[in-house]
Order: sequence, then C-alpha cells, then structure tokens
Amino acid sequence: MKLVAATGNAHKLREFREILKGFEIVSEREAGYLGEVEETGETFAENARLKAYAVCKATGLPALADDSGLCVDALGGAPGVYSARYSGGGDAENRALLLERLAGEEARGAHFACAVCLVFPDGRELSAEGRSYGTILREERGTGGFGYDPLFYSQELGKTFAEASEAEKNSVSHRGRALRALGELL
Ligand code: IMP
Repeated sequence: MKLVAATGNAHKLREFREILKGFEIVSEREAGYLGEVEETGETFAENARLKAYAVCKATGLPALADDSGLCVDALGGAPGVYSARYSGGGDAENRALLLERLAGEEARGAHFACAVCLVFPDGRELSAEGRSYGTILREERGTGGFGYDPLFYSQELGKTFAEASEAEKNSVSHRGRALRALGELL
C-alpha cells in the first residue's frame, strides 16, 4: 500500500519508513503537496488528524500524519503540543529554554507522546498513540536524532535518544510505539 507521510520533517519520514516496513511511504513533497497545515488542535491526536485529512484531500492518497511533543512533569506537561514552537526559534533554542525553565528543579521526569492518524480517501481513518518515559538531563548528551533528543535520557535504553542508534530509539520511542500500534490496526 502506498501512503503519503504528512510531514516535512526528514527525521520523522525516516522513522516512518523504518518502522512501517511493509508500506511504500512517499513524502508529501513527492506526492505534490507543498502546503502547510496549521496545528490548531489542543491535543496531539487532533493535530495528527488535521494534518492527515488535509494531505489526503490534497493528494488523493492515504495520508499518515503524526503529532508529537515532550511533556515535562515539573512544567505541568509543557511544552506539549507547543514543543516545536516553544522558544520561537529552532531545536537548539528550544532545548536551551527547557534547561532554563528547569534550572534548580530536582524532579525531572518527562515523557514524549505521539499520536498518529491514517486517513483514507474514502473517509475511513485509523489512529493510535504511543509514549516513552524518561528524564531531562542538565546538559546535552549525544549528536543523533533531533529536537529534544540530546536532553532526553531514556531509562529503558540507559542513554539519551541522541546517543541511541536509530533502531534503538525506534524500539522504545513514542513514535515507534504509536506506529507499531497503527501497523497492528492495519
Ligand atoms: P510536530 O512536528 O508538530 O509533531 O512537533 C514535534 C516537536 O516535538 C518537534 O519539533 C520536537 O521539538 C519534539 N519532538 C517530537 N518527537 C521528538 C523526538 O523523537 N525527539 C526529539 N524531539 C521530538
């Protein structure tokens, strides 16, 4: 089955392809979609659905979208759905702001959350969610991955997501879990 990945993020696209191996996954750009969907939802699930619907409608192909973010306990779940837009800058600025907000904080528990939604041209849809728990370090470790990966220490892996190989990260990540759950529904 051919699916369009409703994302402009090359890291996510690679993770989609790695985890949903039995599917032909083309990027939204390859499918001719150049728009940008406004993430106006209040939950990861709402935003994933908005993106999948828009790209399915525009391309006429089944569209797979995810929405994800980091939820930090001591910050009441922030940055949450605002993870990508936390500082108003890029990934490095977002990480710097997170460290600033957690300065002097001992309780550093956090989880990544991911909602995925697959919408078919006939209107059917499937959705699933996944989480990965860990703690926020006081300094960055590792050079892989993207976003908050260098600050997110996974208890399950015994290292940060940025120190993990792609296969290790996918085995425990929020996106890996959500996509495998979706794969089972499919
Ligand atoms: P989205 O593209 O709207 O889903 O925004 C997700 C944002 O959450 C990204 O820009 C990252 O800041 C963060 N994020 C989501 N998944 C990950 C991950 O696997 N590693 C690191 N940061 C992530």
